[in-house]
Amino acid sequence: MTLDASLRDWLRLSRLATDPAGRTRIVPLVAEMAAKHVGAAAALVALIDGETMRITAAHGCHDTAFEEWELDPDALGPELEEIILERCRKVSERFEIVRSAPLIADAALFGSLVVVFESAREIGDDSLQILAGIADLAALTLSSASQFDRLERVNVELRATRAVLEKTEKLRALGEMAAGVSHDLKNILNPLGLYMQLAQRQLASGEIDQARASLDEMRGVVRRGTDLLESLRHFSRQAPDALEQQVDLNALAREAMQIAKPRMSSGRRAMPHVIEQLADPPTVLARATEVVSAIVNLLANAQDVVSSGGTITVRTGAQDDGAFVEVEDDGPGMAPDVRERIFEPFFTTKGDAGTGLGLAMVYATMVRHGGKAEVTSELGEGTRIRLWFPTRDEPRPSPQ
Ligand SMILES: Nc1ncnc2c1ncn2[C@@H]1O[C@H](COP(=O)(O)OP(=O)(O)OP(=O)(O)O)[C@@H](O)[C@H]1O
Ligand SMILES: [Mg+2]
Repeated sequence: MTLDASLRDWLRLSRLATDPAGRTRIVPLVAEMAAKHVGAAAALVALIDGETMRITAAHGCHDTAFEEWELDPDALGPELEEIILERCRKVSERFEIVRSAPLIADAALFGSLVVVFESAREIGDDSLQILAGIADLAALTLSSASQFDRLERVNVELRATRAVLEKTEKLRALGEMAAGVSHDLKNILNPLGLYMQLAQRQLASGEIDQARASLDEMRGVVRRGTDLLESLRHFSRQAPDALEQQVDLNALAREAMQIAKPRMSSGRRAMPHVIEQLADPPTVLARATEVVSAIVNLLANAQDVVSSGGTITVRTGAQDDGAFVEVEDDGPGMAPDVRERIFEPFFTTKGDAGTGLGLAMVYATMVRHGGKAEVTSELGEGTRIRLWFPTRDEPRPSPQ
Protein backbone atom coordinates (compact mmCIF):
# COMPACT_ATOMS: atom_id res chain seq x y z
CA MET A 1 0.00 0.00 0.00
CA THR A 2 1.38 3.40 -0.92
CA LEU A 3 0.24 6.66 0.50
CA ASP A 4 -0.57 7.74 -3.04
CA ALA A 5 -2.97 4.84 -3.55
CA SER A 6 -4.80 5.45 -0.29
CA LEU A 7 -4.92 9.19 -0.88
CA ARG A 8 -6.41 8.60 -4.32
CA ASP A 9 -9.04 6.27 -2.84
CA TRP A 10 -9.84 8.81 -0.12
CA LEU A 11 -10.34 11.52 -2.74
CA ARG A 12 -12.59 9.25 -4.83
CA LEU A 13 -14.62 8.50 -1.75
CA SER A 14 -15.09 12.11 -0.69
CA ARG A 15 -16.05 13.10 -4.24
CA LEU A 16 -18.74 10.42 -4.35
CA ALA A 17 -20.39 11.94 -1.26
CA THR A 18 -21.37 15.06 -3.18
CA ASP A 19 -22.14 13.40 -6.49
CA PRO A 20 -25.77 12.27 -6.66
CA ALA A 21 -24.98 9.85 -9.49
CA GLY A 22 -22.08 8.33 -7.56
CA ARG A 23 -23.65 7.73 -4.15
CA THR A 24 -24.45 4.08 -4.80
CA ARG A 25 -20.76 3.52 -5.48
CA ILE A 26 -19.68 4.59 -1.98
CA VAL A 27 -20.32 1.32 -0.17
CA PRO A 28 -18.66 -0.92 -2.82
CA LEU A 29 -15.65 1.44 -2.80
CA VAL A 30 -15.43 1.21 0.99
CA ALA A 31 -15.35 -2.61 0.76
CA GLU A 32 -12.70 -2.43 -1.93
CA MET A 33 -10.58 0.04 0.07
CA ALA A 34 -10.85 -2.06 3.23
CA ALA A 35 -9.72 -5.28 1.50
CA LYS A 36 -6.92 -3.49 -0.34
CA HIS A 37 -5.50 -1.28 2.39
CA VAL A 38 -5.94 -3.67 5.31
CA GLY A 39 -4.48 -6.49 3.20
CA ALA A 40 -7.44 -8.85 3.71
CA ALA A 41 -8.74 -11.53 1.34
CA ALA A 42 -12.22 -10.05 1.42
CA ALA A 43 -14.20 -7.21 2.93
CA LEU A 44 -17.92 -6.73 3.56
CA VAL A 45 -19.99 -3.73 4.53
CA ALA A 46 -22.95 -4.57 6.77
CA LEU A 47 -25.53 -1.81 7.13
CA ILE A 48 -28.40 -1.69 9.59
CA ASP A 49 -31.72 -1.32 7.86
CA GLY A 50 -34.53 -1.05 10.39
CA GLU A 51 -34.83 -4.34 12.23
CA THR A 52 -32.11 -6.18 10.35
CA MET A 53 -28.57 -5.78 9.21
CA ARG A 54 -27.64 -6.65 5.62
CA ILE A 55 -24.44 -7.04 3.71
CA THR A 56 -24.68 -4.18 1.28
CA ALA A 57 -21.38 -4.68 -0.54
CA ALA A 58 -18.57 -7.19 -0.62
CA HIS A 59 -15.17 -7.29 -2.16
CA GLY A 60 -13.10 -10.45 -2.77
CA CYS A 61 -15.87 -12.97 -2.14
CA HIS A 62 -17.97 -12.85 -5.23
CA ASP A 63 -19.22 -16.39 -4.88
CA THR A 64 -20.88 -15.59 -1.57
CA ALA A 65 -24.63 -15.11 -1.71
CA PHE A 66 -24.15 -12.36 0.84
CA GLU A 67 -27.18 -10.35 -0.24
CA GLU A 68 -29.36 -13.06 1.26
CA TRP A 69 -27.79 -12.81 4.68
CA GLU A 70 -29.85 -11.29 7.40
CA LEU A 71 -27.87 -10.40 10.48
CA ASP A 72 -28.83 -9.36 13.97
CA PRO A 73 -28.44 -5.56 14.12
CA ASP A 74 -27.36 -5.80 17.77
CA ALA A 75 -24.47 -8.15 16.94
CA LEU A 76 -21.25 -6.22 17.33
CA GLY A 77 -17.51 -6.93 17.43
CA PRO A 78 -16.54 -10.60 18.19
CA GLU A 79 -20.17 -11.76 18.09
CA LEU A 80 -20.67 -10.41 14.59
CA GLU A 81 -17.22 -11.63 13.49
CA GLU A 82 -18.10 -15.16 14.59
CA ILE A 83 -21.42 -15.18 12.68
CA ILE A 84 -19.78 -13.85 9.54
CA LEU A 85 -16.87 -16.28 9.73
CA GLU A 86 -19.30 -19.16 10.05
CA ARG A 87 -21.18 -18.05 6.95
CA CYS A 88 -18.03 -17.32 5.00
CA ARG A 89 -16.60 -20.76 5.73
CA LYS A 90 -19.69 -22.33 4.21
CA VAL A 91 -18.74 -20.62 1.01
CA SER A 92 -15.00 -21.25 1.19
CA GLU A 93 -12.90 -22.99 3.82
CA ARG A 94 -9.95 -20.76 3.02
CA PHE A 95 -11.53 -17.98 5.12
CA GLU A 96 -10.11 -18.22 8.63
CA ILE A 97 -10.29 -15.01 10.59
CA VAL A 98 -12.76 -12.12 10.60
CA ARG A 99 -12.25 -8.66 12.08
CA SER A 100 -14.70 -5.76 12.15
CA ALA A 101 -14.98 -2.09 12.98
CA PRO A 102 -18.28 -0.31 13.77
CA LEU A 103 -19.66 2.37 11.46
CA ILE A 104 -20.79 5.26 13.64
CA ALA A 105 -22.10 8.64 12.55
CA ASP A 106 -23.74 11.33 14.67
CA ALA A 107 -23.34 9.09 17.74
CA ALA A 108 -25.44 6.34 16.11
CA LEU A 109 -24.28 2.90 15.04
CA PHE A 110 -25.44 2.14 11.54
CA GLY A 111 -23.37 -0.87 10.53
CA SER A 112 -19.98 -2.56 10.50
CA LEU A 113 -17.01 -2.81 8.19
CA VAL A 114 -15.85 -6.42 8.15
CA VAL A 115 -12.60 -7.87 6.77
CA VAL A 116 -11.93 -11.56 6.21
CA PHE A 117 -8.44 -13.08 6.28
CA GLU A 118 -7.27 -16.43 4.97
CA SER A 119 -4.61 -16.68 7.64
CA ALA A 120 -3.61 -14.90 10.84
CA ARG A 121 -0.32 -14.08 9.15
CA GLU A 122 -2.10 -11.63 6.88
CA ILE A 123 -2.99 -9.44 9.83
CA GLY A 124 -0.24 -6.85 10.13
CA ASP A 125 0.57 -4.67 13.15
CA ASP A 126 -1.42 -1.75 11.94
CA SER A 127 -4.17 -3.65 10.04
CA LEU A 128 -6.82 -3.05 12.69
CA GLN A 129 -5.87 0.61 13.01
CA ILE A 130 -6.24 1.03 9.23
CA LEU A 131 -9.56 -0.82 9.38
CA ALA A 132 -10.84 1.54 12.10
CA GLY A 133 -9.61 4.54 10.09
CA ILE A 134 -11.39 3.39 6.93
CA ALA A 135 -14.55 2.67 8.96
CA ASP A 136 -14.50 6.24 10.34
CA LEU A 137 -13.95 7.65 6.89
CA ALA A 138 -16.73 5.51 5.44
CA ALA A 139 -19.13 6.55 8.21
CA LEU A 140 -18.32 10.19 7.63
CA THR A 141 -18.77 9.89 3.85
CA LEU A 142 -22.06 7.98 4.13
CA SER A 143 -23.42 10.45 6.63
CA SER A 144 -22.50 13.45 4.49
CA ALA A 145 -23.95 11.69 1.43
CA SER A 146 -27.25 11.25 3.24
CA GLN A 147 -27.11 14.88 4.35
CA PHE A 148 -26.57 15.93 0.73
CA ASP A 149 -29.48 13.69 -0.21
CA ARG A 150 -31.64 15.37 2.40
CA LEU A 151 -30.55 18.82 1.27
CA GLU A 152 -31.36 17.95 -2.30
CA ARG A 153 -34.79 16.68 -1.35
CA VAL A 154 -35.46 19.85 0.67
CA ASN A 155 -34.25 21.89 -2.28
CA VAL A 156 -36.63 20.11 -4.65
CA GLU A 157 -39.49 20.66 -2.17
CA LEU A 158 -38.53 24.33 -1.82
CA ARG A 159 -38.49 24.78 -5.57
CA ALA A 160 -41.91 23.16 -5.83
CA THR A 161 -43.26 25.38 -3.03
CA ARG A 162 -41.79 28.45 -4.67
CA ALA A 163 -43.41 27.56 -7.99
CA VAL A 164 -46.79 27.24 -6.24
CA LEU A 165 -46.26 30.55 -4.43
CA GLU A 166 -45.28 32.31 -7.63
CA LYS A 167 -48.38 30.98 -9.31
CA THR A 168 -50.56 32.09 -6.40
CA GLU A 169 -48.88 35.50 -6.40
CA LYS A 170 -49.40 35.79 -10.14
CA LEU A 171 -53.06 34.84 -9.75
CA ARG A 172 -53.48 37.35 -6.93
CA ALA A 173 -51.85 40.04 -9.05
CA LEU A 174 -54.02 39.01 -12.00
CA GLY A 175 -57.10 39.35 -9.78
CA GLU A 176 -56.00 42.83 -8.74
CA MET A 177 -55.21 43.71 -12.32
CA ALA A 178 -58.63 42.45 -13.48
CA ALA A 179 -60.33 44.51 -10.80
CA GLY A 180 -58.21 47.52 -11.77
CA VAL A 181 -58.93 47.17 -15.47
CA SER A 182 -62.67 46.79 -14.89
CA HIS A 183 -62.47 49.91 -12.69
CA ASP A 184 -60.78 51.88 -15.46
CA LEU A 185 -63.07 50.38 -18.05
CA LYS A 186 -66.05 51.70 -16.14
CA ASN A 187 -64.46 55.16 -16.11
CA ILE A 188 -63.75 55.04 -19.81
CA LEU A 189 -67.04 53.51 -21.02
CA ASN A 190 -69.09 55.77 -18.78
CA PRO A 191 -69.53 58.52 -21.40
CA LEU A 192 -70.74 56.07 -24.04
CA GLY A 193 -74.38 56.22 -22.91
CA LEU A 194 -74.30 59.98 -22.84
CA TYR A 195 -72.87 60.31 -26.34
CA MET A 196 -75.45 57.82 -27.54
CA GLN A 197 -78.33 59.88 -26.17
CA LEU A 198 -76.78 62.97 -27.65
CA ALA A 199 -76.41 61.32 -31.08
CA GLN A 200 -80.03 60.15 -30.99
CA ARG A 201 -81.21 63.63 -30.19
CA GLN A 202 -79.01 65.14 -32.89
CA LEU A 203 -80.26 62.63 -35.47
CA ALA A 204 -83.89 63.29 -34.52
CA SER A 205 -83.40 66.99 -35.07
CA GLY A 206 -81.49 66.47 -38.31
CA GLU A 207 -78.12 67.69 -36.97
CA ILE A 208 -76.20 65.15 -39.05
CA ASP A 209 -72.72 66.71 -38.64
CA GLN A 210 -73.06 66.97 -34.88
CA ALA A 211 -74.37 63.39 -34.74
CA ARG A 212 -71.35 62.27 -36.75
CA ALA A 213 -69.07 64.03 -34.26
CA SER A 214 -70.80 62.26 -31.37
CA LEU A 215 -70.34 58.93 -33.15
CA ASP A 216 -66.64 59.72 -33.56
CA GLU A 217 -66.38 60.35 -29.82
CA MET A 218 -68.11 57.04 -29.22
CA ARG A 219 -65.72 55.25 -31.56
CA GLY A 220 -62.75 56.74 -29.63
CA VAL A 221 -64.20 55.64 -26.32
CA VAL A 222 -64.78 52.09 -27.57
CA ARG A 223 -61.22 51.94 -28.97
CA ARG A 224 -59.75 52.96 -25.60
CA GLY A 225 -61.98 50.41 -23.87
CA THR A 226 -60.84 47.58 -26.13
CA ASP A 227 -57.20 48.59 -25.71
CA LEU A 228 -57.66 48.54 -21.97
CA LEU A 229 -59.10 45.04 -22.04
CA GLU A 230 -56.11 43.94 -24.09
CA SER A 231 -53.86 44.87 -21.20
CA LEU A 232 -55.37 41.97 -19.23
CA ARG A 233 -54.34 39.59 -21.96
CA HIS A 234 -50.84 41.09 -22.01
CA PHE A 235 -50.61 40.57 -18.30
CA SER A 236 -51.42 36.88 -18.58
CA ARG A 237 -48.98 36.69 -21.51
CA GLN A 238 -51.65 35.54 -23.92
CA ALA A 239 -50.79 38.37 -26.27
CA PRO A 240 -47.73 40.50 -26.99
CA ASP A 241 -47.48 43.80 -25.12
CA ALA A 242 -49.18 46.80 -26.68
CA LEU A 243 -46.63 48.88 -28.47
CA GLU A 244 -45.29 52.04 -26.92
CA GLN A 245 -45.53 55.06 -29.16
CA GLN A 246 -44.23 58.58 -29.04
CA VAL A 247 -47.19 60.40 -27.51
CA ASP A 248 -48.12 64.00 -27.00
CA LEU A 249 -49.30 64.45 -23.42
CA ASN A 250 -51.39 67.47 -24.44
CA ALA A 251 -53.46 65.31 -26.80
CA LEU A 252 -53.84 62.59 -24.16
CA ALA A 253 -54.82 65.14 -21.50
CA ARG A 254 -57.51 66.54 -23.82
CA GLU A 255 -58.79 63.05 -24.57
CA ALA A 256 -58.95 62.24 -20.86
CA MET A 257 -60.86 65.47 -20.13
CA GLN A 258 -63.31 64.60 -22.88
CA ILE A 259 -63.85 61.18 -21.31
CA ALA A 260 -64.21 62.60 -17.81
CA LYS A 261 -66.55 65.43 -18.79
CA PRO A 262 -69.86 63.49 -18.76
CA ARG A 263 -69.10 62.30 -15.23
CA MET A 264 -68.66 65.93 -14.12
CA SER A 265 -71.91 67.05 -15.65
CA SER A 266 -73.90 64.04 -14.43
CA GLY A 267 -73.70 64.93 -10.73
CA ARG A 268 -76.20 67.12 -8.97
CA ARG A 269 -73.49 69.52 -7.89
CA ALA A 270 -72.42 72.44 -9.96
CA MET A 271 -69.79 71.69 -12.62
CA PRO A 272 -66.25 72.39 -11.45
CA HIS A 273 -64.24 74.89 -13.44
CA VAL A 274 -61.67 73.02 -15.45
CA ILE A 275 -58.62 75.08 -16.29
CA GLU A 276 -56.29 73.84 -19.00
CA GLN A 277 -52.69 74.97 -18.72
CA LEU A 278 -51.15 72.90 -21.46
CA ALA A 279 -47.58 73.94 -22.22
CA ASP A 280 -45.25 72.36 -24.74
CA PRO A 281 -44.07 69.04 -23.29
CA PRO A 282 -41.69 66.88 -25.35
CA THR A 283 -43.21 63.69 -26.72
CA VAL A 284 -42.63 60.60 -24.60
CA LEU A 285 -42.66 56.90 -25.39
CA ALA A 286 -45.78 55.45 -23.77
CA ARG A 287 -48.86 53.28 -24.15
CA ALA A 288 -51.47 55.93 -24.86
CA THR A 289 -54.49 54.09 -23.45
CA GLU A 290 -52.82 53.48 -20.11
CA VAL A 291 -51.83 57.15 -19.84
CA VAL A 292 -55.34 58.34 -20.75
CA SER A 293 -56.79 55.98 -18.11
CA ALA A 294 -54.35 57.31 -15.53
CA ILE A 295 -55.34 60.95 -16.23
CA VAL A 296 -59.04 60.00 -16.16
CA ASN A 297 -58.44 58.46 -12.72
CA LEU A 298 -56.84 61.67 -11.44
CA LEU A 299 -59.71 63.73 -12.86
CA ALA A 300 -62.30 61.41 -11.29
CA ASN A 301 -60.65 61.74 -7.87
CA ALA A 302 -60.49 65.51 -8.23
CA GLN A 303 -64.19 65.63 -9.22
CA ASP A 304 -65.05 63.58 -6.15
CA VAL A 305 -63.50 66.13 -3.77
CA VAL A 306 -63.98 69.58 -5.23
CA SER A 307 -66.86 71.48 -3.76
CA SER A 308 -69.59 73.02 -5.91
CA GLY A 309 -67.96 75.38 -8.31
CA GLY A 310 -64.45 74.27 -7.26
CA THR A 311 -61.52 74.32 -9.65
CA ILE A 312 -59.60 71.54 -11.34
CA THR A 313 -56.45 72.47 -13.21
CA VAL A 314 -54.87 70.21 -15.79
CA ARG A 315 -51.28 71.09 -16.60
CA THR A 316 -48.59 69.68 -18.85
CA GLY A 317 -44.99 70.67 -19.28
CA ALA A 318 -41.36 69.68 -19.59
CA GLN A 319 -39.34 68.60 -16.58
CA ASP A 320 -35.99 66.84 -15.99
CA ASP A 321 -35.48 65.15 -19.39
CA GLY A 322 -39.10 64.25 -19.56
CA ALA A 323 -42.63 65.50 -19.69
CA PHE A 324 -45.39 65.71 -17.11
CA VAL A 325 -49.12 65.93 -16.90
CA GLU A 326 -50.74 66.85 -13.62
CA VAL A 327 -54.17 67.34 -12.13
CA GLU A 328 -54.62 69.82 -9.31
CA ASP A 329 -57.77 70.45 -7.30
CA ASP A 330 -58.72 72.96 -4.62
CA GLY A 331 -60.50 70.29 -2.58
CA PRO A 332 -59.89 69.43 1.07
CA GLY A 333 -56.43 67.83 0.58
CA MET A 334 -55.22 64.78 2.44
CA ALA A 335 -53.93 64.07 5.93
CA PRO A 336 -50.42 62.51 5.94
CA ASP A 337 -51.73 59.04 6.93
CA VAL A 338 -54.07 59.01 3.92
CA ARG A 339 -51.47 60.46 1.57
CA GLU A 340 -49.06 57.66 2.44
CA ARG A 341 -51.49 54.95 1.45
CA ILE A 342 -53.23 56.25 -1.65
CA PHE A 343 -51.37 53.99 -4.10
CA GLU A 344 -52.19 50.81 -2.19
CA PRO A 345 -54.65 48.61 -4.07
CA PHE A 346 -58.09 48.71 -2.42
CA PHE A 347 -57.26 51.65 -0.17
CA THR A 348 -60.22 54.02 -0.21
CA THR A 349 -61.77 56.56 2.11
CA LYS A 350 -64.98 56.58 0.08
CA GLY A 351 -66.60 53.50 1.61
CA ASP A 352 -68.79 51.60 -0.83
CA ALA A 353 -68.55 54.43 -3.32
CA GLY A 354 -64.87 53.70 -4.02
CA THR A 355 -62.86 50.60 -4.89
CA GLY A 356 -59.45 52.06 -4.05
CA LEU A 357 -58.09 50.87 -7.38
CA GLY A 358 -57.83 54.13 -9.30
CA LEU A 359 -54.48 55.31 -7.97
CA ALA A 360 -53.13 51.75 -7.75
CA MET A 361 -53.66 51.57 -11.52
CA VAL A 362 -52.00 54.96 -11.94
CA TYR A 363 -49.02 53.77 -9.93
CA ALA A 364 -48.72 50.52 -11.95
CA THR A 365 -48.81 52.54 -15.18
CA MET A 366 -46.03 54.83 -13.97
CA VAL A 367 -43.83 51.88 -12.96
CA ARG A 368 -44.39 50.24 -16.33
CA HIS A 369 -43.31 53.43 -18.06
CA GLY A 370 -40.28 54.09 -15.89
CA GLY A 371 -41.84 57.33 -14.71
CA LYS A 372 -43.15 58.49 -11.35
CA ALA A 373 -46.25 59.87 -9.66
CA GLU A 374 -45.61 62.79 -7.29
CA VAL A 375 -48.24 63.79 -4.77
CA THR A 376 -48.45 67.22 -3.20
CA SER A 377 -51.30 67.52 -0.75
CA GLU A 378 -51.97 69.32 2.50
CA LEU A 379 -55.17 69.28 4.52
CA GLY A 380 -57.24 72.27 3.55
CA GLU A 381 -54.96 73.14 0.64
CA GLY A 382 -55.99 70.85 -2.17
CA THR A 383 -54.11 68.13 -3.97
CA ARG A 384 -51.83 67.95 -6.96
CA ILE A 385 -50.74 64.68 -8.55
CA ARG A 386 -48.09 64.93 -11.22
CA LEU A 387 -47.28 62.08 -13.60
CA TRP A 388 -43.78 62.39 -14.99
CA PHE A 389 -42.53 60.37 -17.96
CA PRO A 390 -38.90 60.24 -19.06
CA THR A 391 -38.14 61.03 -22.70
CA ARG A 392 -36.80 57.87 -24.27
CA ASP A 393 -36.05 56.61 -27.76
CA GLU A 394 -35.97 52.93 -26.93
CA PRO A 395 -38.98 50.97 -25.66
CA ARG A 396 -38.61 49.58 -22.14
CA PRO A 397 -38.15 45.83 -21.92
CA SER A 398 -41.44 44.13 -20.98
CA PRO A 399 -41.72 43.50 -17.25
CA GLN A 400 -41.56 39.76 -16.46
N1 LIG B 1 -57.60 64.57 -5.20
C1 LIG B 1 -57.75 63.96 -4.03
N2 LIG B 1 -58.06 64.67 -2.91
C2 LIG B 1 -58.19 64.05 -1.72
N3 LIG B 1 -58.05 62.73 -1.54
C3 LIG B 1 -57.75 61.98 -2.60
C4 LIG B 1 -57.58 62.55 -3.90
N4 LIG B 1 -57.25 61.55 -4.76
C5 LIG B 1 -57.24 60.40 -4.04
N5 LIG B 1 -57.52 60.65 -2.75
C6 LIG B 1 -57.57 59.66 -1.67
O1 LIG B 1 -56.94 58.48 -2.11
C7 LIG B 1 -57.85 57.38 -1.97
C8 LIG B 1 -57.53 56.35 -3.04
O2 LIG B 1 -57.87 56.85 -4.32
P1 LIG B 1 -58.20 55.82 -5.48
O3 LIG B 1 -58.47 56.60 -6.73
O4 LIG B 1 -57.13 54.81 -5.52
O5 LIG B 1 -59.51 55.11 -4.98
P2 LIG B 1 -60.96 55.73 -4.78
O6 LIG B 1 -61.05 57.00 -5.55
O7 LIG B 1 -61.23 55.77 -3.33
O8 LIG B 1 -61.87 54.64 -5.46
P3 LIG B 1 -62.27 54.60 -6.99
O9 LIG B 1 -61.03 55.03 -7.75
O10 LIG B 1 -62.66 53.20 -7.24
O11 LIG B 1 -63.39 55.55 -7.16
C9 LIG B 1 -59.20 57.99 -2.03
O12 LIG B 1 -60.17 57.19 -1.38
C10 LIG B 1 -58.97 59.30 -1.29
O13 LIG B 1 -58.97 59.12 0.11
MG1 LIG C 1 -60.38 57.06 -7.63
